[in-house]
Amino acid sequence: MNNLQGKHIVLGVTGSIAAYKAVDLASKLTQAGAVVDVIMSHGATEMVTPLSFQVITHRPVITQVFSPLAETEIGHVTLAKQADVFVIAPATAHVIARLALGLADDMITTTALATPAPMLIAPAMESHMFEHPATQQHLATLRARGAAVMQPGTGHLASGAQGVGRLPDPAAIVEAIRQLLGRGGDLHGRRVVITAGGTQEALDPVRYLTNHSSGKMGFRLAEAARDRGAEAVIITAPSAQPTPYGVRRVDVVTGLQMLDAVMAEIIEADALVMAAAVADYRPAQASTQKIKKSAEAMTLELTRNPDILKEVAAARAQSALLQNLVVVGFAAETENLLENGQKKLIEKNLDLVVANPVPESFAGDESQATFIYRDQPLKPFALQPKSQVADRVWDVVAARLRASIQR
Ligand code: CTP
Repeated sequence: MNNLQGKHIVLGVTGSIAAYKAVDLASKLTQAGAVVDVIMSHGATEMVTPLSFQVITHRPVITQVFSPLAETEIGHVTLAKQADVFVIAPATAHVIARLALGLADDMITTTALATPAPMLIAPAMESHMFEHPATQQHLATLRARGAAVMQPGTGHLASGAQGVGRLPDPAAIVEAIRQLLGRGGDLHGRRVVITAGGTQEALDPVRYLTNHSSGKMGFRLAEAARDRGAEAVIITAPSAQPTPYGVRRVDVVTGLQMLDAVMAEIIEADALVMAAAVADYRPAQASTQKIKKSAEAMTLELTRNPDILKEVAAARAQSALLQNLVVVGFAAETENLLENGQKKLIEKNLDLVVANPVPESFAGDESQATFIYRDQPLKPFALQPKSQVADRVWDVVAARLRASIQR
């Protein structure tokens, strides 16, 4: 689900040198289907022209409080009412102070006072200004009032110095907006644990056994859960996927490490979705030194890794705390997809199995899933983006969680 589609985003741009990056932000939001109304402070107009935003958003850009246009169809009161999220990016130390004080001396601060929409602040400034107690106190005040404040990036600043104060990446700002829009979604207040990636089982310090899992399905699941209001934790084997904004990432390497992490994280969780491709076997003995070649052939001795889902099933049978945990497994198969999926549903005591043919579903961005339920006929889906498969999984989990409350 793209929760930006049709949403009204009011984007306040203030006079930081990073204002040019807000053009990219406006573009990303517009491309995702949001309606973006930009309000520029006087300082911002010195950095970027209003025309840049207008071309990108196909909407008039507001630069002053009492322009004739602003007082008709897109005046501050109208905008304030229409906004689903009010974003200030980049936010200078000056606008942060004015917002904290509740001043209403330009279109951005006036709209901020008038809107009931959640507010997102993406600060950008020189590091001493960001770290100054005045700025920190103002940000604390804004947080206490419910605003979401992003941590600025660290690195090269416009002053030439290195430090904290860079505008967060526009892609991360988009994700933070998606998270805000998801507040109050059907997974609100739920804690969900997702596993991702293919575990690596070391043979020696330079070699390991692994598989082709990209981790994409797990990361799409984490993003989709976040965008429906959940607190999402992703336990991931090595994967090139970047950590989604607002998702807690636990890095592991081996199947045994993943087992420990899953057991620790499910204690207070509402759902576990095991999208990881866990190695079924690991080398019986990992050599501490690099294995040197000698004979023409070599035999590896492997030991079974624990089956994490079976361990979870055993723990659920023992612990009242885990009784209501909804558990979803994946079945990646080259043959007998549905029979094997059904077997896993029963043997691992799952609420849902997402069966995928491999290699088609392994590394790409799309997957052709069939859902195998305990109490309903199976449901095949057409090939679709993994982000959509993720939303269908959360539909099932959310329904299960609702049902367990009613029980
Ligand atoms: N799984 C697990 N622990 C393992 C292996 C797999 O928890 N040691 C989980 C996977 O994350 C997935 C499900 O079990 O959700 C099915 O994984 P899959 O690799 O398809 O099947 P296996 O159970 O390993 O069985 P087989 O390899 O015989 O098909």
